[in-house]
Amino acid sequence: MNADVLAQLQATARTVPTLTNMFAATPSRSHDFTFDALGLRVDVSRQLISPQMWSELLVAADKCEIRLQIDKMFAGEPVNVTEDRPALHVALRADAATSAEASWASAEMERAMKCAHRLRTNSEIHTVVNIGIGGSDLGPAMAVRALRTFSDGPDVRFVSNVDAADFDHALHGLNPRNTSFIVSSKTFTTSETMHNAARARQWMLDGGVSWKDRFFASTARPSIAMEWGIQPEHCFEFKEWVGGRYSVSSVIGLPLICAIGPEAFSEFLLGMRDMDQHVATSELQQNLAVVHALVWFANAVLHQFPTVAVVPYSHDLARLPAYLQQLVMESNGKSVTTDGAPVATATSPVVWGEPGTNGQHAFFQMLHQGSQVVPVEFVGTAAPLGTDSSAHDVLVANMLAQAEALAVGDVNENSHKNFPGNRPSTVIMLEELTPRSLGALLSMYEHSTAIQGWLLGVNSFDQFGVELGKTIAGSVLKSMTDANTSSGLTVTHPLLEWYLQKRKNN
Ligand code: F6P
Repeated sequence: MNADVLAQLQATARTVPTLTNMFAATPSRSHDFTFDALGLRVDVSRQLISPQMWSELLVAADKCEIRLQIDKMFAGEPVNVTEDRPALHVALRADAATSAEASWASAEMERAMKCAHRLRTNSEIHTVVNIGIGGSDLGPAMAVRALRTFSDGPDVRFVSNVDAADFDHALHGLNPRNTSFIVSSKTFTTSETMHNAARARQWMLDGGVSWKDRFFASTARPSIAMEWGIQPEHCFEFKEWVGGRYSVSSVIGLPLICAIGPEAFSEFLLGMRDMDQHVATSELQQNLAVVHALVWFANAVLHQFPTVAVVPYSHDLARLPAYLQQLVMESNGKSVTTDGAPVATATSPVVWGEPGTNGQHAFFQMLHQGSQVVPVEFVGTAAPLGTDSSAHDVLVANMLAQAEALAVGDVNENSHKNFPGNRPSTVIMLEELTPRSLGALLSMYEHSTAIQGWLLGVNSFDQFGVELGKTIAGSVLKSMTDANTSSGLTVTHPLLEWYLQKRKNN
């Protein structure tokens, strides 16, 4: 962002009145700062943004050419400049007739859907286990959980960590004869995934099952998957132009298709497409992804709040914070601009969270009275989830009460009981949680993340920051197998020595 525009915004942010004063001064504030589209309501009226600051933010979005950037992304231009490739996740759910990429992706999705249909109708298959990590786990795992009331297929489980205990637990009680595995990995080289995949293959062999009939792969490197032993007709491909954390609408969604079926998954894709079209065509000031991005930018950069708590008031959405953690932090956790120059401001906030009301009984004390301000993103649904609508009223009442309490506070002369208020939050409401509305919500988050990146001037589509640790882990592992502690670590080797003395191999 241009330095003058930023300086003006910073100056305005310092003069924003309190929330109670802003609500008192503008009776229409709730209305003015509530945005509706596609059954989603995004209420940002409790954010520390005055009408003047909002106008300036919209001007800044214009000056950062957000519309042009969105258009370039949709057109398949190489917006991932550091890797010189497009970020074309929107092609995954576009009408097949719109581009060569959309047509290719749609045909590949058709193959994945047929495969899922066969798995779902094969009475021998009781369980499908997805092996993958990061974007090859978080999107589908979050969505399978979010749409669990729509699940009518085999039990779908996820193994992500290279943690033997987690693997053991995920496979506990399963019979190899009734189990299928999907190895989800864009690169098909991620060490955690390949370790677990090899273990799953051995488990099948030990169970006397012809493992090749039961293994499937979703990957951008089908040749590596085939070399590993996956049958060509069991490989489902997506292209390099889909970032891992933006891949839930690609064939990485195969576990979700197994869980909810091809028809419901098509609805999920349509929800994403609805939001893509909204983002591509709406004016900036009514565009949900732009509004959302401007709020996150204002909190992280202008108010300098270092974290944001995502608190879904829905246990079905329990994995949403983890999914957003990767989407936002892996995308925008950068300190150089797309040109490689240092950025002058904060970039990605730390994203964290847990479902409400549980969070109220854990970390909300700090949100209300802690010395750091934490913006909160509440996510809820109007339609009840589950069979007890009175419980749903209690759930939503709590969410609205928390947003109110954070904003308004409560003056008490006993300082221990004083609530300062003026703590910002957004409330996102879905009319109901369905495959289509979930698709729309996730697409909004994908676009908001990219727009935040353009406002910050960073490339939201690379992730070089994950590489160094992976490289060092490789040499540390070699030190362990060679029992040679002199290599790999320069400042941590005493701990490695201790570990090698204490570990127990089984
Ligand atoms: O380590 C980070 C990362 O590269 C993510 O970007 C990606 O989603 C994850 O690892 C898994 O990678 P892959 O799908 O290639 O196994």
